[in-house]
Amino acid sequence: MAAVAKYKKELENFASRKAPSHPIFTPLPSLLQQSTMGAHVVEPSRLWLEPLNSEEHFEDYYAIQSHPLAMFWSSQTVHTTREQSLAQMESMRPSVDKPWNERWAIMLRPMATEAASPNEENGAVKKPKPKMIGFLGIVRQDEIGYKLHPDFWGNGYMSEALALFIDLFWKWDAMKSSTRLIAAADSENKGSLRVLEKAGFIKDRYEKEFYERAIDQGKGGKKRDLQFFYLDRPQRNDGTSN
Ligand SMILES: CC(C)(COP(=O)(O)OP(=O)(O)OC[C@H]1O[C@@H](n2cnc3c(N)ncnc32)[C@H](O)[C@@H]1OP(=O)(O)O)[C@@H](O)C(=O)NCCC(=O)NCCS
Repeated sequence: MAAVAKYKKELENFASRKAPSHPIFTPLPSLLQQSTMGAHVVEPSRLWLEPLNSEEHFEDYYAIQSHPLAMFWSSQTVHTTREQSLAQMESMRPSVDKPWNERWAIMLRPMATEAASPNEENGAVKKPKPKMIGFLGIVRQDEIGYKLHPDFWGNGYMSEALALFIDLFWKWDAMKSSTRLIAAADSENKGSLRVLEKAGFIKDRYEKEFYERAIDQGKGGKKRDLQFFYLDRPQRNDGTSN
């Protein structure tokens, strides 16, 4: 935890952007996304995954995409308006061409202590709400992507969420012909590199000067190195795939 706190501080110093202002937003009518994995909601002890949708998860999604630390490694710029986040959420829907184009909200259960002392509101017991702390999913064919709100870094949450997601991925009907999951992390993104290693991903090719972090834009086109990883579909004892 101390190492992660120090690292956050370093990133904060580095990411010198001002926090984005939050203009007034008129919510657009949004549709609950239909998940092609909808039947597979998994509930472990602290977290569960559910299909990301703008009706339920919009504010938490925006809180992440507008946070400079969460976006530090990204090629996408920090969201400064809610409209950006909403448009992005609405674009993440499975289609015939992209059946994998789906994201999952990482939900944190209310703490046991909160659940034990619910607030009273107008005589009714107000249940503590679960919180979306991050999201993950398939960002390109067979390629996983993930992000956690910085307030929740360093608690093992992404390792737990990733393990859940990998299990779902191999069971996902739309992905049954996929034999390999891939991932890529900035070579300096220690947290992400470790999360992937812990999940069993194997180091693959290393691409030098492969992509541009959004925070580097306007700094002479500096490109960053990317470490690729893969994880093969587990084999059953009889040699067939899971
Ligand atoms: C990378 C990220 C997902 C890690 O999430 P997290 O929940 O904090 O990770 P975990 O707590 O599960 O940590 C897993 C391991 O990584 C280590 N770790 C996490 N952050 C670290 C950091 N900044 N530096 C070094 N190690 C780190 C943990 O110590 C742990 O290793 P251990 O079990 O051997 O001690 C989170 O920092 C994040 O969302 N970053 C911004 C978005 C991003 O980088 N996405 C990935 C793009 S490829």
